[in-house]
Amino acid sequence: MRTPPTRTRVAVIGGGQNCEHDVSLASAASVAGALDPAAYDVVPITIGRDGTWRDRGLRPIGLCGAAQVLRGCDVAFPVVHGPRGEDGALAALCELAGIAYVGSGVRPGAIAMDKWTTKLVAAAVGIATAPGRLVTAATAGHERWTHPVVVKPVAAGSSLGVSLVTEPGLLRPALEEALALDDRVLVEDVVAGREIDVAVLRRTDGSLFVPPALEIVADGVFDHEAKYGGHADFRVPARLEGVEAKALKEAALAVYDALGCSGVARVDFFLTEDGPVLNEVNTVPGMTEHSQVPRMFAAAGMSYPELLDELVRGAHR
Ligand SMILES: Nc1ncnc2c1ncn2[C@@H]1O[C@H](COP(=O)(O)OP(=O)(O)O)[C@@H](O)[C@H]1O
Ligand SMILES: [Mg+2]
Repeated sequence: MRTPPTRTRVAVIGGGQNCEHDVSLASAASVAGALDPAAYDVVPITIGRDGTWRDRGLRPIGLCGAAQVLRGCDVAFPVVHGPRGEDGALAALCELAGIAYVGSGVRPGAIAMDKWTTKLVAAAVGIATAPGRLVTAATAGHERWTHPVVVKPVAAGSSLGVSLVTEPGLLRPALEEALALDDRVLVEDVVAGREIDVAVLRRTDGSLFVPPALEIVADGVFDHEAKYGGHADFRVPARLEGVEAKALKEAALAVYDALGCSGVARVDFFLTEDGPVLNEVNTVPGMTEHSQVPRMFAAAGMSYPELLDELVRGAHR
């Protein structure tokens, strides 16, 4: 009798202690459901909004219990967007506990989560970002409206706390809304351009792969309702001139490399008359089958389960 091949045990971690909790739950559930059951034994773990770690049966297990579950798995697959997840926190936990994990390490996670620091890194490698300044609760009172701006938390996601401010009276409420989610806020010039997302994947052989880019067609800011209301208008492959596609790809690769990312990252741009302007980098991008990243890989002929398989096989060890 042949012994059945052993399946890889993958701990899929979802939820998280931040405003993107529900979005992470959706991504994690999709990932858990799509990992090929012939190759993978999925062990779901959930982090509650209050930080409680729970097992498959949603029983509270505490951090020590979670570490034990993780130690019993071959690979951890963190699918927690935002602070205390995507920002390198879960990568750090895996590093300290000696657990192989999918995706970027501590440093790229932390830097990419910080939209201000990301601008500094982008500038250092010659990639444009929106001119902007950093505002804190202590300095917000000095802010004066001079022209239309976008106000957003330095570290959040899912468009939460992001406002387009087109008149003076809206500046203060926008700052307050963003400061409710982070103690640092960006006040940025409004960039006029098409929104184009580029995915970069480090394959198991170490090479970098960039599938066709995706365009988001949004009426103004791509806000929370437009993202998750079920009718986001994504065009993939984005309609691009050869020179535009090349500039976007090169900029995405340069940013991925400068940050030192692993696994898959989604590098989001505005395509302006002067070329690509980097908006942000997501080291744990939305991962439902209908999210941008899986759709870009599907356009390159890589199915969602194949993408997940590639990510697990490329885990940090
Ligand atoms: N400087 C900007 N100019 C124009 N639109 C912007 C600017 N910054 C953000 N936006 C719009 O707001 C959306 C959300 O902002 P983003 O920085 O991507 O935050 P999140 O991390 O929440 O996705 C973007 O997808 C874009 O539509
Ligand atoms: Mg965004």
